[in-house]
Amino acid sequence: MSRIFSGVQPTGDLHLGNYLGAIRNFVGLQDDFECLYCVVDMHAITVWQDPELLAPHTREVAAAFLASGIDPTDSIIFNQSQVTAHAELAWVFNCVARMGWLNRMTQFKEKAGKHRENASIGLYVYPNLMAADILAYKATHVPVGEDQKQHLELTRDIAIKFNNDFGAEFFPVVEPLIFGEATRVMSLRDGTKKMSKSDPSEYSRINLTDGADDIAGKIRKAKTDPGELPGTESLTEDGRHIDAEIERTRPEAFNLLSIYAALSGQTIAATLDQFAGSQFSSFKGELVDLSVSKLGPIGAEMQRLMAAPDHVDQILHDGANRAAAIAAPVIKEVHKIVGFLGA
Ligand code: AMP
Ligand code: TRP
Repeated sequence: MSRIFSGVQPTGDLHLGNYLGAIRNFVGLQDDFECLYCVVDMHAITVWQDPELLAPHTREVAAAFLASGIDPTDSIIFNQSQVTAHAELAWVFNCVARMGWLNRMTQFKEKAGKHRENASIGLYVYPNLMAADILAYKATHVPVGEDQKQHLELTRDIAIKFNNDFGAEFFPVVEPLIFGEATRVMSLRDGTKKMSKSDPSEYSRINLTDGADDIAGKIRKAKTDPGELPGTESLTEDGRHIDAEIERTRPEAFNLLSIYAALSGQTIAATLDQFAGSQFSSFKGELVDLSVSKLGPIGAEMQRLMAAPDHVDQILHDGANRAAAIAAPVIKEVHKIVGFLGA
Protein backbone atom coordinates (compact mmCIF):
# COMPACT_ATOMS: atom_id res chain seq x y z
CA MET A 1 0.00 0.00 0.00
CA SER A 2 1.20 3.52 -0.79
CA ARG A 3 1.21 6.24 1.83
CA ILE A 4 2.28 9.85 1.30
CA PHE A 5 4.14 11.97 3.85
CA SER A 6 5.56 15.45 3.50
CA GLY A 7 6.56 18.30 5.78
CA VAL A 8 6.97 22.07 5.67
CA GLN A 9 8.83 24.11 8.29
CA PRO A 10 6.99 26.90 10.14
CA THR A 11 9.73 29.47 9.75
CA GLY A 12 7.47 32.27 8.46
CA ASP A 13 6.92 33.75 5.02
CA LEU A 14 5.78 30.81 2.92
CA HIS A 15 6.59 31.63 -0.68
CA LEU A 16 5.85 30.67 -4.26
CA GLY A 17 8.66 28.06 -4.22
CA ASN A 18 7.02 26.24 -1.31
CA TYR A 19 3.72 26.36 -3.14
CA LEU A 20 4.81 25.25 -6.62
CA GLY A 21 7.56 22.86 -5.47
CA ALA A 22 5.57 21.19 -2.72
CA ILE A 23 2.18 22.26 -1.36
CA ARG A 24 0.36 22.41 -4.68
CA ASN A 25 1.51 18.90 -5.48
CA PHE A 26 0.17 17.65 -2.15
CA VAL A 27 -3.38 18.52 -3.19
CA GLY A 28 -3.70 16.20 -6.19
CA LEU A 29 -2.28 13.19 -4.33
CA GLN A 30 -5.19 13.12 -1.87
CA ASP A 31 -7.58 11.47 -4.32
CA ASP A 32 -5.49 8.36 -4.76
CA PHE A 33 -3.49 7.97 -1.55
CA GLU A 34 -3.62 8.19 2.19
CA CYS A 35 -1.71 11.42 2.91
CA LEU A 36 -0.08 12.94 5.98
CA TYR A 37 0.99 16.59 5.76
CA CYS A 38 3.02 17.79 8.70
CA VAL A 39 4.09 21.21 9.96
CA VAL A 40 7.60 20.32 11.11
CA ASP A 41 8.05 22.62 14.10
CA MET A 42 10.79 20.42 15.60
CA HIS A 43 12.82 20.91 12.42
CA ALA A 44 12.23 24.66 12.59
CA ILE A 45 13.96 25.00 15.99
CA THR A 46 17.22 23.58 14.60
CA VAL A 47 17.87 27.28 13.99
CA TRP A 48 16.61 29.94 16.43
CA GLN A 49 12.87 30.63 16.36
CA ASP A 50 11.21 33.30 18.47
CA PRO A 51 8.87 31.34 20.81
CA GLU A 52 6.23 34.06 20.38
CA LEU A 53 6.14 33.45 16.64
CA LEU A 54 6.41 29.67 16.40
CA ALA A 55 2.70 28.99 17.03
CA PRO A 56 1.47 31.69 14.58
CA HIS A 57 3.94 30.42 11.97
CA THR A 58 2.70 26.86 12.55
CA ARG A 59 -0.86 28.05 11.91
CA GLU A 60 0.32 29.87 8.79
CA VAL A 61 1.59 26.63 7.22
CA ALA A 62 -1.58 24.77 8.23
CA ALA A 63 -3.62 27.62 6.72
CA ALA A 64 -1.62 27.35 3.48
CA PHE A 65 -2.36 23.62 3.31
CA LEU A 66 -6.09 24.23 3.82
CA ALA A 67 -6.30 27.26 1.53
CA SER A 68 -4.51 25.34 -1.25
CA GLY A 69 -7.15 22.62 -1.14
CA ILE A 70 -5.97 19.95 1.27
CA ASP A 71 -9.05 18.42 2.87
CA PRO A 72 -8.49 17.77 6.59
CA THR A 73 -11.24 15.19 6.81
CA ASP A 74 -9.47 13.13 4.18
CA SER A 75 -5.76 13.89 4.60
CA ILE A 76 -4.11 14.20 8.00
CA ILE A 77 -2.82 17.70 8.79
CA PHE A 78 -0.86 18.06 12.04
CA ASN A 79 2.21 19.55 13.67
CA GLN A 80 5.18 17.33 14.44
CA SER A 81 5.71 18.17 18.12
CA GLN A 82 2.22 16.89 19.02
CA VAL A 83 3.21 13.34 18.04
CA THR A 84 6.02 11.91 20.17
CA ALA A 85 6.80 9.13 17.68
CA HIS A 86 8.96 11.51 15.60
CA ALA A 87 11.43 12.21 18.42
CA GLU A 88 11.42 8.59 19.57
CA LEU A 89 12.25 7.14 16.19
CA ALA A 90 14.76 9.92 15.48
CA TRP A 91 16.82 8.73 18.46
CA VAL A 92 17.00 5.21 17.07
CA PHE A 93 18.00 6.65 13.69
CA ASN A 94 20.72 8.75 15.34
CA CYS A 95 22.20 5.38 16.21
CA VAL A 96 21.74 3.95 12.70
CA ALA A 97 22.96 6.84 10.51
CA ARG A 98 26.75 7.33 10.21
CA MET A 99 28.68 10.56 10.75
CA GLY A 100 30.10 10.22 7.25
CA TRP A 101 26.61 10.27 5.74
CA LEU A 102 25.61 13.45 7.55
CA ASN A 103 28.92 15.12 6.73
CA ARG A 104 27.94 15.00 3.07
CA MET A 105 24.65 16.88 3.48
CA THR A 106 24.78 20.09 1.46
CA GLN A 107 21.87 21.73 3.33
CA PHE A 108 23.82 21.51 6.60
CA LYS A 109 26.86 23.04 4.94
CA GLU A 110 24.76 25.88 3.49
CA LYS A 111 22.89 26.59 6.71
CA ALA A 112 25.86 26.24 9.06
CA GLY A 113 28.06 28.31 6.75
CA LYS A 114 31.42 29.33 8.12
CA HIS A 115 30.25 28.95 11.71
CA ARG A 116 30.04 25.17 11.71
CA GLU A 117 31.27 24.87 15.31
CA ASN A 118 28.42 27.11 16.40
CA ALA A 119 25.62 25.24 14.60
CA SER A 120 23.18 23.28 16.77
CA ILE A 121 23.52 19.49 16.95
CA GLY A 122 19.86 19.48 15.89
CA LEU A 123 20.80 21.09 12.57
CA TYR A 124 23.40 18.36 12.03
CA VAL A 125 21.00 15.47 12.73
CA TYR A 126 18.09 17.21 10.96
CA PRO A 127 18.00 14.54 8.20
CA ASN A 128 17.64 11.75 10.79
CA LEU A 129 14.52 13.44 12.19
CA MET A 130 13.23 13.81 8.64
CA ALA A 131 13.72 10.06 8.07
CA ALA A 132 11.84 9.42 11.32
CA ASP A 133 8.95 11.67 10.19
CA ILE A 134 8.49 9.58 7.09
CA LEU A 135 9.22 6.11 8.44
CA ALA A 136 7.17 6.44 11.65
CA TYR A 137 4.23 6.02 9.26
CA LYS A 138 6.00 3.63 6.90
CA ALA A 139 5.25 6.19 4.18
CA THR A 140 6.31 5.08 0.70
CA HIS A 141 6.23 8.33 -1.33
CA VAL A 142 7.37 11.84 -0.43
CA PRO A 143 6.42 14.90 -2.53
CA VAL A 144 9.07 17.63 -2.17
CA GLY A 145 10.96 20.29 -4.11
CA GLU A 146 14.22 19.45 -5.84
CA ASP A 147 16.32 20.68 -2.89
CA GLN A 148 15.18 17.79 -0.67
CA LYS A 149 16.48 15.03 -2.94
CA GLN A 150 19.65 14.43 -0.95
CA HIS A 151 17.75 14.19 2.34
CA LEU A 152 15.49 11.55 0.84
CA GLU A 153 18.51 9.56 -0.34
CA LEU A 154 19.60 9.54 3.29
CA THR A 155 16.15 8.36 4.39
CA ARG A 156 16.54 5.45 1.97
CA ASP A 157 20.01 4.66 3.34
CA ILE A 158 18.71 4.68 6.90
CA ALA A 159 15.81 2.34 6.03
CA ILE A 160 18.16 -0.05 4.24
CA LYS A 161 20.74 -0.07 7.05
CA PHE A 162 18.09 -0.55 9.73
CA ASN A 163 16.60 -3.47 7.81
CA ASN A 164 20.06 -5.01 7.26
CA ASP A 165 21.38 -4.46 10.78
CA PHE A 166 18.36 -6.03 12.41
CA GLY A 167 17.67 -8.62 9.72
CA ALA A 168 14.11 -7.35 9.32
CA GLU A 169 12.25 -6.36 6.15
CA PHE A 170 10.60 -3.60 8.13
CA PHE A 171 10.93 -0.11 6.67
CA PRO A 172 9.99 0.70 3.06
CA VAL A 173 12.59 2.33 0.81
CA VAL A 174 10.86 5.61 0.01
CA GLU A 175 10.48 7.22 -3.41
CA PRO A 176 10.75 10.98 -3.82
CA LEU A 177 7.96 12.59 -5.87
CA ILE A 178 9.52 15.64 -7.51
CA PHE A 179 7.16 16.84 -10.24
CA GLY A 180 5.54 19.82 -11.91
CA GLU A 181 7.08 22.55 -14.07
CA ALA A 182 8.68 24.40 -11.15
CA THR A 183 10.49 21.96 -8.86
CA ARG A 184 13.14 24.60 -8.15
CA VAL A 185 11.80 28.16 -8.18
CA MET A 186 14.60 30.73 -8.28
CA SER A 187 14.92 34.19 -6.72
CA LEU A 188 13.27 37.01 -8.70
CA ARG A 189 16.42 39.10 -8.16
CA ASP A 190 19.00 36.48 -9.13
CA GLY A 191 18.08 33.48 -11.26
CA THR A 192 21.06 31.49 -9.98
CA LYS A 193 19.80 31.50 -6.37
CA LYS A 194 16.91 29.48 -4.97
CA MET A 195 13.82 31.43 -3.88
CA SER A 196 14.10 31.26 -0.11
CA LYS A 197 12.68 32.78 3.03
CA SER A 198 16.18 33.51 4.27
CA ASP A 199 16.90 35.92 1.38
CA PRO A 200 17.10 39.43 2.89
CA SER A 201 15.36 41.02 -0.13
CA GLU A 202 11.55 40.91 -0.05
CA TYR A 203 11.70 41.46 -3.81
CA SER A 204 13.40 38.08 -4.26
CA ARG A 205 10.22 36.14 -3.48
CA ILE A 206 6.45 36.21 -3.71
CA ASN A 207 4.92 35.34 -0.36
CA LEU A 208 1.66 33.40 -0.32
CA THR A 209 0.04 36.12 1.78
CA ASP A 210 1.10 38.96 -0.58
CA GLY A 211 -1.76 41.08 -1.90
CA ALA A 212 -2.29 41.92 -5.58
CA ASP A 213 -0.19 45.10 -5.43
CA ASP A 214 2.79 43.35 -3.86
CA ILE A 215 2.62 40.51 -6.39
CA ALA A 216 2.44 42.96 -9.29
CA GLY A 217 5.26 45.13 -7.93
CA LYS A 218 7.60 42.19 -7.37
CA ILE A 219 7.01 40.71 -10.82
CA ARG A 220 7.44 44.10 -12.55
CA LYS A 221 10.77 44.60 -10.72
CA ALA A 222 11.94 41.01 -11.36
CA LYS A 223 15.33 40.85 -13.05
CA THR A 224 15.31 40.07 -16.78
CA ASP A 225 17.76 40.42 -19.66
CA PRO A 226 17.73 42.57 -22.81
CA GLY A 227 16.66 39.78 -25.19
CA GLU A 228 13.26 38.70 -26.43
CA LEU A 229 11.68 35.65 -24.83
CA PRO A 230 13.09 32.31 -25.96
CA GLY A 231 11.04 29.63 -27.69
CA THR A 232 10.89 25.86 -28.03
CA GLU A 233 14.43 25.68 -29.45
CA SER A 234 15.47 25.82 -25.76
CA LEU A 235 13.98 22.40 -25.01
CA THR A 236 15.76 19.07 -24.64
CA GLU A 237 15.27 16.51 -27.41
CA ASP A 238 12.27 14.91 -25.75
CA GLY A 239 10.63 18.37 -25.74
CA ARG A 240 9.76 18.16 -22.07
CA HIS A 241 12.48 20.10 -20.26
CA ILE A 242 14.57 23.21 -20.70
CA ASP A 243 18.07 22.32 -21.86
CA ALA A 244 20.35 22.87 -18.85
CA GLU A 245 23.12 24.53 -20.91
CA ILE A 246 20.70 26.99 -22.50
CA GLU A 247 19.00 27.63 -19.15
CA ARG A 248 22.32 28.71 -17.63
CA THR A 249 22.65 31.49 -20.18
CA ARG A 250 19.33 33.16 -19.24
CA PRO A 251 18.34 31.91 -15.77
CA GLU A 252 15.90 34.74 -15.00
CA ALA A 253 13.95 34.34 -18.25
CA PHE A 254 13.54 30.58 -17.82
CA ASN A 255 12.60 30.97 -14.16
CA LEU A 256 9.74 33.35 -14.99
CA LEU A 257 8.59 31.11 -17.83
CA SER A 258 8.63 28.05 -15.55
CA ILE A 259 6.58 29.93 -12.97
CA TYR A 260 4.08 30.86 -15.69
CA ALA A 261 3.89 27.23 -16.87
CA ALA A 262 3.39 25.88 -13.35
CA LEU A 263 0.72 28.43 -12.40
CA SER A 264 -1.17 28.06 -15.67
CA GLY A 265 -1.12 24.27 -15.54
CA GLN A 266 0.33 24.03 -19.04
CA THR A 267 3.61 22.43 -20.04
CA ILE A 268 6.84 24.37 -20.35
CA ALA A 269 6.79 23.57 -24.09
CA ALA A 270 3.36 25.18 -24.54
CA THR A 271 4.50 28.21 -22.52
CA LEU A 272 7.65 28.70 -24.58
CA ASP A 273 5.59 28.37 -27.72
CA GLN A 274 3.10 30.97 -26.49
CA PHE A 275 5.65 33.66 -25.61
CA ALA A 276 8.49 33.03 -28.10
CA GLY A 277 9.75 36.37 -29.41
CA SER A 278 7.66 38.49 -26.99
CA GLN A 279 9.04 41.40 -25.00
CA PHE A 280 9.44 40.93 -21.25
CA SER A 281 7.12 43.87 -20.57
CA SER A 282 4.09 42.23 -22.18
CA PHE A 283 4.95 38.79 -20.76
CA LYS A 284 5.26 40.27 -17.27
CA GLY A 285 1.78 41.78 -17.61
CA GLU A 286 0.38 38.31 -18.35
CA LEU A 287 2.36 36.78 -15.49
CA VAL A 288 1.01 39.40 -13.07
CA ASP A 289 -2.59 38.66 -14.08
CA LEU A 290 -2.09 34.91 -13.81
CA SER A 291 -0.29 35.13 -10.46
CA VAL A 292 -2.88 37.42 -8.92
CA SER A 293 -5.74 35.23 -10.12
CA LYS A 294 -4.14 32.00 -8.81
CA LEU A 295 -2.47 33.23 -5.61
CA GLY A 296 -4.87 35.99 -4.56
CA PRO A 297 -7.66 33.66 -3.39
CA ILE A 298 -5.17 31.43 -1.54
CA GLY A 299 -3.66 34.39 0.30
CA ALA A 300 -7.09 35.74 1.21
CA GLU A 301 -8.24 32.35 2.53
CA MET A 302 -5.01 32.02 4.55
CA GLN A 303 -5.66 35.41 6.16
CA ARG A 304 -9.21 34.34 6.99
CA LEU A 305 -8.05 31.07 8.57
CA MET A 306 -5.26 32.73 10.54
CA ALA A 307 -7.81 35.15 11.99
CA ALA A 308 -9.63 32.12 13.47
CA PRO A 309 -6.80 30.28 15.27
CA ASP A 310 -9.09 27.99 17.31
CA HIS A 311 -10.41 26.34 14.17
CA VAL A 312 -6.91 25.69 12.79
CA ASP A 313 -5.66 24.49 16.19
CA GLN A 314 -8.51 21.99 16.38
CA ILE A 315 -7.66 20.60 12.94
CA LEU A 316 -4.00 20.19 13.99
CA HIS A 317 -5.01 18.52 17.24
CA ASP A 318 -7.37 16.05 15.54
CA GLY A 319 -4.73 15.36 12.90
CA ALA A 320 -2.14 14.66 15.60
CA ASN A 321 -4.42 12.08 17.22
CA ARG A 322 -4.98 10.32 13.91
CA ALA A 323 -1.26 10.42 13.09
CA ALA A 324 -0.29 9.10 16.54
CA ALA A 325 -2.63 6.13 16.08
CA ILE A 326 -0.82 5.15 12.86
CA ALA A 327 2.66 5.61 14.33
CA ALA A 328 2.08 3.81 17.66
CA PRO A 329 2.22 0.21 16.35
CA VAL A 330 5.26 1.08 14.19
CA ILE A 331 7.17 2.42 17.22
CA LYS A 332 6.12 -0.61 19.27
CA GLU A 333 7.51 -2.91 16.60
CA VAL A 334 10.76 -0.90 16.39
CA HIS A 335 11.22 -1.33 20.14
CA LYS A 336 10.79 -5.08 19.74
CA ILE A 337 13.19 -5.27 16.78
CA VAL A 338 15.87 -3.22 18.59
CA GLY A 339 15.45 -5.36 21.72
CA PHE A 340 14.19 -2.76 24.20
CA LEU A 341 12.54 -4.35 27.22
CA GLY A 342 8.94 -3.17 27.52
CA ALA A 343 5.37 -4.17 28.18
P1 AMP B 1 10.82 24.35 3.75
O1 AMP B 1 10.19 25.68 3.75
O2 AMP B 1 12.29 24.38 3.68
O3 AMP B 1 10.29 23.47 4.85
O4 AMP B 1 10.36 23.66 2.39
C1 AMP B 1 9.08 23.10 2.23
C2 AMP B 1 8.93 22.49 0.85
O5 AMP B 1 9.07 23.50 -0.15
C3 AMP B 1 10.00 21.43 0.52
O6 AMP B 1 9.37 20.36 -0.18
C4 AMP B 1 10.96 22.16 -0.37
O7 AMP B 1 11.62 21.29 -1.28
C5 AMP B 1 10.03 23.11 -1.11
N1 AMP B 1 10.76 24.32 -1.57
C6 AMP B 1 11.35 25.27 -0.80
N2 AMP B 1 11.91 26.23 -1.55
C7 AMP B 1 11.66 25.90 -2.84
C8 AMP B 1 11.97 26.51 -4.12
N3 AMP B 1 12.64 27.66 -4.19
N4 AMP B 1 11.55 25.87 -5.25
C9 AMP B 1 10.84 24.71 -5.17
N5 AMP B 1 10.54 24.08 -4.02
C10 AMP B 1 10.93 24.67 -2.86
N1 TRP C 1 13.39 19.15 5.22
C1 TRP C 1 12.18 19.58 4.59
C2 TRP C 1 12.40 21.00 4.04
O1 TRP C 1 13.15 21.78 4.53
C3 TRP C 1 11.02 19.58 5.54
C4 TRP C 1 10.71 18.21 6.04
C5 TRP C 1 10.88 17.75 7.31
C6 TRP C 1 10.18 17.13 5.27
N2 TRP C 1 10.46 16.44 7.39
C7 TRP C 1 10.05 16.05 6.17
C8 TRP C 1 9.84 16.99 3.93
C9 TRP C 1 9.57 14.80 5.74
C10 TRP C 1 9.34 15.75 3.51
C11 TRP C 1 9.22 14.66 4.41
O2 TRP C 1 11.77 21.35 3.11
